[in-house]
Amino acid sequence: MSSVTRMMSMVLSLQIITAFFFITATVSSSDSSQPGGFTMDLIQHRSKSNSSSFRRSNIDNQLRATPYADVAFDTYEYLMKLQIGTPPVEIEAILDTGSEVVWTQCLPCINCFNQSSPIFDPSKSSTYKKIRCTTPDQSCDYDVVYGDKSYSIGSFVSETVSIKSTSGQSYVMPETIIGCSHNNSAFKTSGSGIVGLNWKPLSLISQMGKHMLGAISYCFSPEGTSNINFGSNAIVSGEGTVTTPMFKKKEGPGLYYLNLDAVSVEKTRIETLGTPFHASDGNIVIDSGSTLTTLPASYCSLVREAVEKFVEAERVTSKDGTLCYKTNTMDVFPVITMHFTGGADLVLGKTNTYMAVNGGDICLAIICGPTIPLPGGVDAIFGNRAQNNFLVGYDDSSRLFSFKPTDCGVKQDIPRDSVSAASFLQFNITFVLFIYVLSLIRL
Ligand SMILES: *[C@@H]1O[C@H](CO)[C@@H](O)[C@H](O)[C@H]1NC(C)=O
Ligand SMILES: *[C@@H]1O[C@H](CO)[C@@H](O)[C@H](O)[C@H]1NC(C)=O
Ligand SMILES: *[C@@H]1O[C@H](CO)[C@@H](O)[C@H](O)[C@H]1NC(C)=O
Repeated sequence: MSSVTRMMSMVLSLQIITAFFFITATVSSSDSSQPGGFTMDLIQHRSKSNSSSFRRSNIDNQLRATPYADVAFDTYEYLMKLQIGTPPVEIEAILDTGSEVVWTQCLPCINCFNQSSPIFDPSKSSTYKKIRCTTPDQSCDYDVVYGDKSYSIGSFVSETVSIKSTSGQSYVMPETIIGCSHNNSAFKTSGSGIVGLNWKPLSLISQMGKHMLGAISYCFSPEGTSNINFGSNAIVSGEGTVTTPMFKKKEGPGLYYLNLDAVSVEKTRIETLGTPFHASDGNIVIDSGSTLTTLPASYCSLVREAVEKFVEAERVTSKDGTLCYKTNTMDVFPVITMHFTGGADLVLGKTNTYMAVNGGDICLAIICGPTIPLPGGVDAIFGNRAQNNFLVGYDDSSRLFSFKPTDCGVKQDIPRDSVSAASFLQFNITFVLFIYVLSLIRL
C-alpha cells in the first residue's frame, strides 16, 4: 500500500474520531429534533454621522430623495460576532432584520471599506466553496442596495459559519450561503458586513432551520450590554409582555410588518383611523438596522403638532423640518406611546424618542418620511432607537411580535443554551456514515 493510502486512512480515522466526539458531545445536550436555543452578547456601535442609516434591501431611488441633510442624528448599530471558514476567522457584522443577505468583505477587494479586523481571505479556508446558480452563466452574484444608498456587491458562496454563545458553546452551521463582497460603498461601521435576519430563505435565521423555530429576540441597550437570543431562548414572556400580530407581505422584500393603530403624545391619542396610514394588515416595518423611526408625512405631522403643543422651549429652525429645541433636558418633552394592534401599547422612554444632535439641541427622533410610498408600501419604520430597553421578540411560528419593557443594560438571567447543533449534527451524521462506509470499503 502506498503512503498516500496510509495517509488517507489516517485522515479517515481522524474524521471518525472527530465524529465520535461530536456524537458524545450531543448526547449530553439534546436530541437534534428538539428545538435549540442560545443567547449571545452584541456590540453597540455609535457613529456620529450625516447618514440616515435606513438599511433596507432592494429599495429603489425614491428613498434617496428624502431630506436628511440638515440635522445630523447619530447612527446606532448593533453588531454580532460570527466565525467564518475553517480555520475560523472572527468577524463582526451589523444585525439587520430589514434585509436578507449575510455578507462579509472578502479578498480580493475591488472596493472595500476600512474594517477593524483583517478582511476574510477565502483562499485560506478549507470549507469555502463557490456555488452555481441557475443563471445562464451559472454565476451567483448578488447586489444589495440598502435604504441609505450603501451597497454591497459580490458572489454567493458556501461557507461554515459558527456562532459562539455567551456561555461559550459554538453553534456551527456548515454550508451556509453567505455573500462574499468585493465591491462596497463606504459603510461607516466598525464591522465588516451585515447579518440579514429577515424572513427570506438566505437570512441567518432562515438558514438555521426549523429547530430554531424562526424565533429571535433582542434587547438593545442605549449604553450597556445588548444581546440577541435564538430559538427556544428567544421566547418573550413574563410580566409586562405584550404581543401584536406579525405581517408579511409578498411584495415587500422580506420585511416584518406590524400594525400601528395610534400614537399617543402624553394623553393625546392620535388614531391612524381616518388617515391614509391606517391599515389592518401591517403599516410599519420593524427594523433593527435603522436608527430612527419614520412615519408617513401626513400622519407624522399630526404627531409633531401634538409634540409642539406640549413643549415649552425655544424652537430651532432646521431646513428639513426636523422638530428641534434649544434645551439641555429631555424633561420638557412629552411621553410618546405607540399603540400596536391587539393592545400592545409601548410606552417609550424619552431617550427612545428624542436625541441630542450636533449643536447640543434636542430633536424628535421620529422622522416624517417620504410622501411617495416605497416598494411594498414601506413608508413607516420602527427603528432601533425606539426599540431600546424592550426585549423584542420575533416569532415566526406564532406570527407574533412580543415586547417586554426591560433594562437591557442589566445582565439578564440567560436561559441555558440548548445548542443541540442540529444542523451540525445532521450534517455530521451523514458525513460520518459516508466516511464510515468509505472506510469499510477500504478495509
Ligand atoms: C456631512 O456631509 C457633508 C456633505 O455631504 C460633508 O461635507 C461633511 O464632511 C459630513 N460630515 C461628517 C461628520 O461626516
Ligand atoms: C483606512 O485605514 C487606513 C489605515 O488606518 C487609512 O490610512 C486610510 O486612510 C483609511 N481609508 C479610509 C477610506 O478611511
Ligand atoms: C462597484 O459598484 C458600483 C455600483 O454598482 C459601480 O459603479 C462601480 O463601477 C463598481 N466598481 C468596480 C471597480 O467594479
